[in-house]
Amino acid sequence: MPEIWNETGPLPIGHVGPTAVRPAPELSGQKPVRRPEDPTRHVPAHSRTADGPGLASRARSPQTDRRPIVGSADHTRVICMINRKGGVGKTTTTFNLAGGLAQMGKQVLVIDMDPMGSLCRSIGVFPAEQALSDLLIGANGNLGALVRSTHIPNLFVIPGDPNLRTFEMRHGTSVVYRESLSNRLQEILKWKPFHFILIDCPPSLGLISGNAMAAAHQVIVPVDGSTYGMGALMDTLGIIRLVRENVNEGLGMCGLLLNNVNLGTVYDRTILDVFRRRMRGAMFQTVIPTSPEADEASQLGEPVTQHAPSSWMAKAYRQLIEEVLAKEPNYAT
Ligand SMILES: Nc1ncnc2c1ncn2[C@@H]1O[C@H](COP(=O)(O)OP(=O)(O)O)[C@@H](O)[C@H]1O
Ligand SMILES: [Mg+2]
Repeated sequence: MPEIWNETGPLPIGHVGPTAVRPAPELSGQKPVRRPEDPTRHVPAHSRTADGPGLASRARSPQTDRRPIVGSADHTRVICMINRKGGVGKTTTTFNLAGGLAQMGKQVLVIDMDPMGSLCRSIGVFPAEQALSDLLIGANGNLGALVRSTHIPNLFVIPGDPNLRTFEMRHGTSVVYRESLSNRLQEILKWKPFHFILIDCPPSLGLISGNAMAAAHQVIVPVDGSTYGMGALMDTLGIIRLVRENVNEGLGMCGLLLNNVNLGTVYDRTILDVFRRRMRGAMFQTVIPTSPEADEASQLGEPVTQHAPSSWMAKAYRQLIEEVLAKEPNYAT
């Protein structure tokens, strides 16, 4: 039975199933962040997590946020983070953008399409028995039933699962599955329960990233200034063009995001200059600085705007959010 979905649409958030949260890790020299526990929380017996039932008993309560999510958005804006290269900040961008938007009161769903499931692991949500990969290959079920609440108000996730890798390896050359996510997403889009759906992609340009782009209104391409960054970016832009020509003509560019740079160095300032000259208007004005808070925040499972609101990184994310909000897609195409 769907956890927050039934035939008539989404149910109030209080119906959301278990969310397992791992204990916050100790960070050296840093005060651990305590998350409030709800002693009244009922954890159903069928609660399953990748780390076993022990964690489920420490689960955060979805009961703390009972606002209905039914029909809250005029449009649901779907954005995917994509780059062939790993380590450029796709997951970091997805999480901090989603967390920052959720803090502003937007209803946000993150779909973790990376088989590693790093984003959901960092906030302590693990796939249930039926997972995203099952639905993408056509299993009976409803994508809405995979939506899980998190300890961050207004932020929901569909966890990534390891079988997404099998999905890509088995069916990567087939056109049959290239719009699986897009088709499944219609179940959620028709109810418009979310203002934003952000999709975190793996570092590849295969079936998974293709599915994300087929389902999205826009892409954000995080890039870094590393030696191979420009080559990966060119490949990524080429695939975006192919998807636009063959599958999703409405796919727009929200922006290229230079991440993890230190503009105090001549080298990184030159990188920024090169990107701005070559990519012209496609670059976000915002640049995300190299910051220790990036790792800290993801280890604590908190967006940086919450973990270190006065840090340079948090300021950069607030500026990025303003830019993203100003770049509405054309919903008609
Ligand atoms: N602005 C940044 N400053 C410092 N570290 C960063 C920054 N952005 C990302 N990182 C770190 O780089 C690593 C890779 O980032 P991640 O978002 O996982 O990349 P991807 O999803 O593209 O593989 C992570 O450890 C992350 O914390
Ligand atoms: Mg990632």
